[in-house]
Amino acid sequence: MPNDRTRDVAVVGSPSTNTELTVDLLQEATEERLVGALTAFEAVQNGQRITSVGQIVGIELRNRWHEDSVFRNLVKRTGEIPPITNRQDTRTADLVVGATFRQSTHGFDPEVLGMVPPTGTRVYRVDQPLLDRLLEVYRSEIVYLGRAYANDVLYPMWFKHFGGGAGGAGEAYHLGVFGKTGSGKSGLAKMMLCAYARQLEMGILVIDPQGEFSLEFSGTRVGQQGLQLDQVVRGQGRAIHVYRIEDLQLDDWATFEEMVISLRFLEQLAIPSASGENARRAAEVIRGALEGTHNLDNLGTIQVLQAALNAINNPNNAGFIYATRTRAQQLQQRVQRFLNDPQALNQLLTNSWVPICQLFSRGQNRQRLFTFQGQEPGIINMLLGSAGAAGPRPVIVIDISRQGNQRFWSEELQRRIIAKLLNILVSQATSL
Ligand SMILES: Nc1ncnc2c1ncn2[C@@H]1O[C@H](COP(=O)(O)OP(=O)(O)OP(=O)(O)O)[C@@H](O)[C@H]1O
Ligand SMILES: [Mg+2]
Repeated sequence: MPNDRTRDVAVVGSPSTNTELTVDLLQEATEERLVGALTAFEAVQNGQRITSVGQIVGIELRNRWHEDSVFRNLVKRTGEIPPITNRQDTRTADLVVGATFRQSTHGFDPEVLGMVPPTGTRVYRVDQPLLDRLLEVYRSEIVYLGRAYANDVLYPMWFKHFGGGAGGAGEAYHLGVFGKTGSGKSGLAKMMLCAYARQLEMGILVIDPQGEFSLEFSGTRVGQQGLQLDQVVRGQGRAIHVYRIEDLQLDDWATFEEMVISLRFLEQLAIPSASGENARRAAEVIRGALEGTHNLDNLGTIQVLQAALNAINNPNNAGFIYATRTRAQQLQQRVQRFLNDPQALNQLLTNSWVPICQLFSRGQNRQRLFTFQGQEPGIINMLLGSAGAAGPRPVIVIDISRQGNQRFWSEELQRRIIAKLLNILVSQATSL
């Protein structure tokens, strides 16, 4: 291939460094789309033949006659100067060196470019057979998500696991996908997920605020991409678990207090959640009355509801919730109406109180986010493999979308679950 001059597009020019070369475009290449193209050149370093691959990142045209004011004046009148216009153009491009390989008896080994090739060194377009030969030793590690910009070669990528050792990066990578609506962010994220899914020792947690990944992992395609996300992952022997909010067992009183506000229980008592402080104090009163005397996983009964209402009915507490005396008395009257009317109380129980308590109650198939030793493993334990399971780690999707959670959803609940997940992950990661 190196001697196949038909694909030459440029020669090394000046000034050049070992990381960024100035190359002069050959006449034949001036009409080609070259920005973004993967190109290569050969050189000799320490007596060994090397091949460097790089990307053309920009092209500059110069015609020094056209920069001269006398000629500019002529051009202004005639539009061109036949022997000069176009024919004296020179185009230089910037070539950023990406990877260098040393030729050895068994193929190519990675190398570092520690010199600058002489001017006149031919720069040619990379084709798939050359790329395949260069990357032969990495074949099992490489992932292709698509073709290189302005080339028809498949762009080689690495998605290494974060551990040390073979095929590992030795540290965690943070990747972000940003773009306009509809630009393909989710599509790219799904492809990257497939790439990382090949690293079976990595657990994969998807926090899914739009429900898109939950659908994909349940076998329902979203969009036109045609990537069988669930099948790809299952094909690797990984288990897939999709949890909705109602599958989670929340387990702290602070979240309970928040849910009393954001799932609109207090509005039934005519304390608008939007009024902020009053609702916050009312939730504090309820929590204070129940915490310590009741189990968080068993609050959905009429007795507990009565205890909560009695606490609000207490004149001191009502006065704490509403400083204005008449407002406090109105609140007590409202609460008393529930306490004295079994039918209204039952309705309040079923429609408003139980749905909140269910988030915290035990149940079959309900999982805590995290549990310490001695209890059945929580979701994050499964992910981190502390459950002692051998084999590929699972993919766990937590659907916190409004669509996926018709019964329980509030922005606050969504925010709380994300915060809780992140707290657990951070504390686990730092304790390792
Ligand atoms: N690599 C791909 N190949 C083919 N189609 C794709 C690819 N990536 C995305 N698409 C399709 O293009 C459309 C928009 O992509 P996608 O939903 O990923 O965009 P997005 O940036 O996530 O949008 P939003 O901001 O609305 O979430 C979808 O129909 C998707 O299936
Ligand atoms: Mg999207």
